[in-house]
Amino acid sequence: MATPQRYTVTAALPYANGPVHIGHLAGCYLPADIYVRYLRQQGRDVQFICGTDEHGVAINLKAQAEGCSPKEIVDRYHEVIRKGLEGIGCSFDIFSRTSKAIHRETAQDFFTKLYEQGSLVEKTTEQYYDTQAESFLADRYIQGTCPNCGFEEAYGDQCESCGSSLSPMELKNPVSRLSGGRPERRETTHWFLPLDHLSGKIEQYIRAHGHWKPNVYGQCMSWLQSGDGLQARSMTRDLDWGVPVPLPQAEGKVLYVWFDAPIGYISATKELLGERWTDYWQREDTKLVHFIGKDNIVFHCITFPSMLMEHGDYHLPDEVPANEFLNLEGRKISTSRNWAVWLHEYVADFPGKEDALRYCLCANAPETKDNDFTWKDFQNRNNNELVAVLGNFVNRVLVLLNKYYDGKLPEVQAPTAAEEQLQKARRQAPDRVAAALERYRFREAQLAMMQLAREGNKYLTEEEPWKTQKTDPSRTEAIMHEAAQTAALLSQLMEPFLPFAAARLRGYLQLDLIPWEKLSDGDLLPAGHRVEKGDLLFEKVSDEAVEAQKQKLEEPAPAEEKHPPLKEEMDFETFTQQDLRVGTITAAEEMPKADKLLKLSVNLGFEQRTIVSGIRQHFDAAHLPGQRVTVVANLAPRKLRGVESQGMILMAENADGMLHFVAPPAEAENGAVVR
Ligand code: MF3
Ligand code: ZN
Repeated sequence: MATPQRYTVTAALPYANGPVHIGHLAGCYLPADIYVRYLRQQGRDVQFICGTDEHGVAINLKAQAEGCSPKEIVDRYHEVIRKGLEGIGCSFDIFSRTSKAIHRETAQDFFTKLYEQGSLVEKTTEQYYDTQAESFLADRYIQGTCPNCGFEEAYGDQCESCGSSLSPMELKNPVSRLSGGRPERRETTHWFLPLDHLSGKIEQYIRAHGHWKPNVYGQCMSWLQSGDGLQARSMTRDLDWGVPVPLPQAEGKVLYVWFDAPIGYISATKELLGERWTDYWQREDTKLVHFIGKDNIVFHCITFPSMLMEHGDYHLPDEVPANEFLNLEGRKISTSRNWAVWLHEYVADFPGKEDALRYCLCANAPETKDNDFTWKDFQNRNNNELVAVLGNFVNRVLVLLNKYYDGKLPEVQAPTAAEEQLQKARRQAPDRVAAALERYRFREAQLAMMQLAREGNKYLTEEEPWKTQKTDPSRTEAIMHEAAQTAALLSQLMEPFLPFAAARLRGYLQLDLIPWEKLSDGDLLPAGHRVEKGDLLFEKVSDEAVEAQKQKLEEPAPAEEKHPPLKEEMDFETFTQQDLRVGTITAAEEMPKADKLLKLSVNLGFEQRTIVSGIRQHFDAAHLPGQRVTVVANLAPRKLRGVESQGMILMAENADGMLHFVAPPAEAENGAVVR
């Protein structure tokens, strides 16, 4: 097959409702980054697209749990996720957000085209409605008894006890997670993508990709062949957070998150490239590659391609290299139980050791089956492989070149069998790495790179240039010349896997990145080339560091980050739009079935306000009347658990994690402006 002209490589857009952990990294972001770095070295035209997925019920639920708005949640986690991924070296061309205007337009245009050409089927069905909260309930918002196993806290889409997937109407004794009340059935209209009608075309598409990894292909086939085959899927939801459905008759409805999120790949490309975006999405000579975790397979292999097929202008996904899951110390990673290694914490705890995590996760990548990460294995791989083999080899080469020749590379000498063997290894290594990467075999590719380091290390140890230096200096020149070429090649082959160390090494070697096709040509450094002595390429991970991490795993979840990252800059205009006023709380009551919320009455001098605030766990309602507060007085009112909240009260957190009021000065009167 001819080499594609250009590549669009995406990594699943992480939900902005929490930070990213090593499972996400190993399954999706790391292999994607390795692949893209390799393509760039090959000189291929590639765009690497990612960003945060900021819609969907998961975001609402998190906001509700924290008593804040969905916007605050996504703003916070977008930054945490971006910093973590960039910190570990993910070299996205763009890391966007699905809350941007360009995405809303792109997703709405996509929907409108499907609607106008009659691709969508309008259906009215009964769904649960919460009369107190005045809203329809997404599947996840309904809890009840599982019809299969009797678990009483099953959700409307799934029972987490027996794992069976459910629909809300199957639950016994359904309860709304919004108000805690019993929901009633009401009719609502939605727009469905008729996957059932498309199933012939989809099956053809999947079968044409029989080379997909067995885990991916198998899952698709079992979906296609399952009992009732493909079902029409609703592409809209009754929710107040998301991309509004662009139809006049659809007020209060948004696009289903799995409709809008994959379009996020397209809108991010638009944002990045302007008009040129179509080259990367609509041309047949572009290769579209989606890196995802296994829980995203159907959406990328069936739903999204169906949307693209129906739309008609798009090229379909070519490759979907999905990985299995990574476990941690023998247990399933769990966000809610804080059984996880959070990426932003790793980056903070191990500065300068970004490559060590990349190396270990790639070596243990869950490519064909679930795999396990342990801190002990992390330490062993770092100390016994990166430090003792790769680092040791490279540092010996640099030190000896500087010691014997003041850093100037000696002339080539006639090779002995030992050189010939290492030269052969050098000629083969680039192809071995490339062949594995082209087939998405990242462990094998990294192993092939390390194999060259092992051979180099063994060569130095066996040829002992420090001994021949006394007896036969020209032999030492031959050895050091050969060893230097091997280090130079490693500085290129390491780049996809260990980009930080690779760049440092190229710095010491005074060498740039070299096009991949030149890597097998022979010497990369001419005689006389100068190299620096450099520094240790890798450092050991101590027993204490490993113990500290294991300890951390056993601790309960930390309340919040101490200093969350700064939000995006705002202009002066935006700032002056907010109107802060002095007020006094006159009454406070607990809200039924909302263990975080208090309903407050606040005297603003010129008027009385009702404000719902997520502070119940921090204060005793009985003590609040008389408390002086600072109020955001021109915030658009919003409904929380059925009560209209008319403003917000400013708070700050103490070192102990408890909230306190930002109190106005004693002389300021109610209603006074805070500037
Ligand atoms: N947010 C989803 C998840 O974390 C992935 C979305 S991928 C996209 O599972 F294609 F929809 F963007
Ligand atoms: Zn169950």
